[in-house]
Amino acid sequence: MKKKHPCSSFPHFIHGADYNPEQWIYDKAVWDMDMQLMEKAHTNEMTVGIFSWAKLEPSEGVYDFSFLDEIIDKIGKNGKKVILSTPSGARPHWLAEKYPEVLRVGQDGVREHFRARENHCFTSPVYREKVKNINRKLAERYGNNPTVIAWHISNEFNGECHCQLCCDAFRDFLKNKFNNNIDELNHNYWADFWSHTYANFEQIEPPGKNTETGIHGLNLDWKRFVTHQTKEFIKCELEPIREITPHLPVTTNMMFEFYDIDYYKFVDIIDFASWDSYPEWHSCDDSVIASKTAFWHDLYRSLMKKPFLLMESTPSLVNWKPYNKMKRPGLDVLSSLQAIAHGSDSVQYFQWRKSRGSSEKFHGAVVGHDGTDNTRVFRSVKKTGEILEAIDEIAGSFVDSQVAVIFDWENMWALDDCQGYAKDDKKYFETCYDYHRLFWERGINCDIVSPKSDLKGYKIVVAPMLYLTDAETIENLKNYVSDGGILYGTYMMGTVDANDLCYLGGIPAKDLRKVFGIVSEEIDTLYPHERCHTVFGEAEHELIDYCEVIHPETAEVVASYCDGFYKYSPAVTINSFNKGKAVYQAARDRQSLKSAIIDMLIQESGVTSVVDALGVLPHGVTAHSRTDGENLYIFVENYSCDESATVKLRKKMKNMLTGEFCEICEIAPYGFAIFKEEH
Ligand code: GLA
Ligand code: ZN
Repeated sequence: MKKKHPCSSFPHFIHGADYNPEQWIYDKAVWDMDMQLMEKAHTNEMTVGIFSWAKLEPSEGVYDFSFLDEIIDKIGKNGKKVILSTPSGARPHWLAEKYPEVLRVGQDGVREHFRARENHCFTSPVYREKVKNINRKLAERYGNNPTVIAWHISNEFNGECHCQLCCDAFRDFLKNKFNNNIDELNHNYWADFWSHTYANFEQIEPPGKNTETGIHGLNLDWKRFVTHQTKEFIKCELEPIREITPHLPVTTNMMFEFYDIDYYKFVDIIDFASWDSYPEWHSCDDSVIASKTAFWHDLYRSLMKKPFLLMESTPSLVNWKPYNKMKRPGLDVLSSLQAIAHGSDSVQYFQWRKSRGSSEKFHGAVVGHDGTDNTRVFRSVKKTGEILEAIDEIAGSFVDSQVAVIFDWENMWALDDCQGYAKDDKKYFETCYDYHRLFWERGINCDIVSPKSDLKGYKIVVAPMLYLTDAETIENLKNYVSDGGILYGTYMMGTVDANDLCYLGGIPAKDLRKVFGIVSEEIDTLYPHERCHTVFGEAEHELIDYCEVIHPETAEVVASYCDGFYKYSPAVTINSFNKGKAVYQAARDRQSLKSAIIDMLIQESGVTSVVDALGVLPHGVTAHSRTDGENLYIFVENYSCDESATVKLRKKMKNMLTGEFCEICEIAPYGFAIFKEEH
């Protein structure tokens, strides 16, 4: 059997929540009520300690673990598990008061006062030391407690600091990168432009509100540095944890559409991925929201190539969006099961109980201010818990994908920073979502991967808008196609290198030109109201935003522009390269052109849907599968609010929740079904 549980000491689906009992320390009757309600809600886990530092270390070096002792003991006696968090996400007053260096400095050079959370300086030696101390105490005290199954490091790392310590660390980072040679830096940054040549590393300042932002290589390296320094901070957190509790797996909770950290760089310091999902349900067609959310589930699963945890989600609404809408009946269970379908081994909520005051008092929670189980939200959570128990055999199983979409943070940063194209509206996220959706709506499992990840085994790899392609990526893509893969690239491919310098001698750069068999000459950015057209297959497709003018070298032209002065020049090409093929889409379309191209590639490659879909499934419907190597589990989800859908399976299968066997299934609005195909 092929299984891997994120928390190996608890090989089950986890159903739990962020739990902040320290807010109720003066009314412990609430704790006892919580224990009863946790049982009723069919939960089996609570994540504790996230913001508990002020209680655990009320003054410097004075520790008081009584509340945590009591709560972990209660949760354990209640038959449930704990994911223990390190408290570095928010600090106690005394720490900021005594050591102001722990407070962040903004881009304007102004140091923050004590406020908010997730805003410490990640370079400060004092903060690092204090965090290591408290983590050591926690590890020593709870590391061998059988109730504790994993570590949750800090909370949603984000942001940057411009203090002197961070600026110095950035200079060291650059010295290391450029062999302590300022000329090498100048050359790679094209710094002679506007006479901005650096005479020494001390002249370098991080890009900010009043500082240099015109050197793109510098901007990119600053973003890389922020990821690097966040990671260095996490490594400090982990020192005592790895030493004292090598048996406990570690994660940190990542986020939706998070821009500022390259999470691919976290893979060698965490043991499993986890993330916090807060989609804007009902803000438009829910299938659009569902497929975007699916993209991030797929990314976090692909990150570590194994099951991940949905660390936070709201059972109803959040309180920090401009409009905070309740999840409609059915959608909470469906969106929870969506995570499972994509490879999550948990459904966890923020938060277990609504706080009574402060900024999150109106954020959704399993238990509201009424404190009872007699609510719609509580019943929904309970239902999810019951379902997870019924399908527990799926926990630990994998998602096998035959296709992947490449998404890359560095590419996004470089692309957004570049002054050109549609200057402030490149739409990289949206474009990646659009390509991913092609598979989502056909019921085809899809991975989201870095351009440097191992692509062997994928039948189709899509690389949208891969503007920054460094030497390693070019090699990786070339080898993938050469060995028989199908690569589907687009406009802007292979434009700049790792330092954001333009490739000379024609793009797509270097060997990519041979792989695609084309050379690009110019890109036309259309005004938002402009349209262009191409004919591919039988149909005409509308083109928007970008039309790249390319010339075939060895590629075959399969679609040409129908309008403008570049009429008749190629819009889509296909090139054979060794054992594989490379398709190039030179212009952006809404969806119909890429949909037609993907149909062609699916046919050619033999990629299959997990259901019997020919072409797209009914609107709003999707399907995914997980496997333990012996059994196949198929999830069918319907995101339509008012239409039921009929889906044909590949053969008769058992519905795991009703016990019935069927081949044609009817899925209610906001409904789902889980089938098992035994081998
Ligand atoms: C994040 C945080 C939580 C909470 C939720 C609210 O995910 O990690 O502490 O603030 O947002 O949605
Ligand atoms: Zn700093």
